[in-house]
Amino acid sequence: MNPVRNSPPQGPSGAPSAGAISNGVKHFLHIADHSAEELSELLTSAVALKKEWKKGGNKPILEGKVLGMLFEKPSLRTRVSFDMAMRHLGGDALYLSPAEVGLGKREATSDVARVLSRYVQGIMLRTFAHQNVLDIAKYASIPVINGLSDYNHPCQALADALTILEHKGTLKGLKLAFIGDGNNVTTSLAHLSAKLGMDFAVASPKGYELPADVVKGSGVALAGNPAEAVKNADVVYTDTWTSMGDEAEADRRKKEFGAYQVNSELLKKAQKDAIVMHCLPAHRGEEITDAVMDGPQSVVFDQAENRMHAQKAILAKLLAQ
Ligand code: CP
Ligand code: NVA
Repeated sequence: MNPVRNSPPQGPSGAPSAGAISNGVKHFLHIADHSAEELSELLTSAVALKKEWKKGGNKPILEGKVLGMLFEKPSLRTRVSFDMAMRHLGGDALYLSPAEVGLGKREATSDVARVLSRYVQGIMLRTFAHQNVLDIAKYASIPVINGLSDYNHPCQALADALTILEHKGTLKGLKLAFIGDGNNVTTSLAHLSAKLGMDFAVASPKGYELPADVVKGSGVALAGNPAEAVKNADVVYTDTWTSMGDEAEADRRKKEFGAYQVNSELLKKAQKDAIVMHCLPAHRGEEITDAVMDGPQSVVFDQAENRMHAQKAILAKLLAQ
């Protein structure tokens, strides 16, 4: 297990976050930092921005603004959806690769934050250690967005909420079942469910459960097995068995997660009209079968598209004057 993911730094409220606002600057670092009202406002804004874009284009509300995108890990969706979101809103995005910056190696993380704050108007960071997210937010004088850490993935959860809303018309009262690793994606889904009134059940192999601080107070139900988790579920969600950074454990994980596959047989045990979600990238034939991923209940590509729309709402809130 990854020690960083399971020992997140704790803020004053017990949440591993610098907060939605630090030094008077707004950030998007952690679902738990935001009230249900704020999350609902972001969703309403995402719906409006998506509609506006589908009708022919967004207004250039971020003209002259540049988002610095700092990546320590690979990405397709996060990189492209943030870049396109900025362009659609009249701004620009600058990609900084893992080799270029060397957070805390070539240069102190605090200095990277201070320097970037002199050049760009916002920072989006994808990193291993969640502490880097906290440090960048602490030392930057511009808004910071967490584009995935070993602890959480709040942008994914917001896009997932938008996708569920589109397909189910509501979030409140739904049952979301997660099958697999209690990882960064699962953590943000747990916080999202607690905030927006979904029942959240998770089935993970022993040793791969959600961190204790996430389970505590979130109302998450730890199911004994996948069948129990998906019973009456409106949404069935899975993610890779081996997250970025856990590659050395891939062989062992393949064996230990074998019974935690979302396949047609498992899906039959959920609600008849359940939707199937995956943050992607998927490992077809491992955590999800082709039949389910390409089947009529799958909404995985809507999810991928919605990253762009949900992030436009975050960018508009944080960067628009
Ligand atoms: N879901 C997601 O964050 O995808 P990428 O790793 O491709 O950005
Ligand atoms: N849990 C996965 C999510 C990828 C978007 C990982 O961290 O690799």
